[in-house]
Amino acid sequence: MPVPPETARLSFREFVDDDFEAFHAICSDPLVMRFVREGVPWTSEQTQDCIDTARRLVRELGYCRWGVIHKDDERLIGFCGYVPTEGVPEIGWRLAKEYWGCGLATEAAKNVLSFGLTTLQMPRIIATVQKRNHASRRVTEKLGMTFESAFERLGNEVLLYSITPPVC
Ligand SMILES: CC(C)(COP(=O)(O)OP(=O)(O)OC[C@H]1O[C@@H](n2cnc3c(N)ncnc32)[C@H](O)[C@@H]1OP(=O)(O)O)[C@@H](O)C(=O)NCCC(=O)NCCS
Repeated sequence: MPVPPETARLSFREFVDDDFEAFHAICSDPLVMRFVREGVPWTSEQTQDCIDTARRLVRELGYCRWGVIHKDDERLIGFCGYVPTEGVPEIGWRLAKEYWGCGLATEAAKNVLSFGLTTLQMPRIIATVQKRNHASRRVTEKLGMTFESAFERLGNEVLLYSITPPVC
């Protein structure tokens, strides 16, 4: 299956079994998980389920949450990719906190978005971000996504953004 191309600082690949430890360190970090769903760090079962789901989705739909590798130190530092939400690919990102504040989420997400719109020819991509998650809202804005609506999920106000391919 095709994966997003490399960027200046990052590469992308499907998750492998050996990623569990590094990925669980990220998903069990309360600061990283503060604005994800209920804001509760994941159990090892939830982390494993996320890896298993990614590997199933890529076979079924050709897209998933790809592992993000920091090229300089070759570490798995998070994911960026898609899950289907009512049939529409929803883009998302999650990085280890040591790598925040350097533009890496924007670099990863721009690349994954462009890969989705062009190579995978997705007709529409959405993103949902908790209103209090200012860093992710900013990333979404920098991707050029358009705010569509707000709704409540699990007691949090969530903003829905979307983007479609350019007409020309
Ligand atoms: C959200 C996340 C991916 C951002 O990673 P990052 O690599 O630091 O992001 P970037 O450096 O690419 O850009 C973040 C932007 O948000 C801004 N930002 C960061 N924290 C902010 C805050 N508290 N308030 C307002 N803006 C903020 C940055 O200044 C930057 O914008 P700029 O380039 O205009 O200055 C990272 O914080 C993360 O993994 N969080 C946990 C998981 C998560 O919330 N995922 C998203 C679920 S929808």
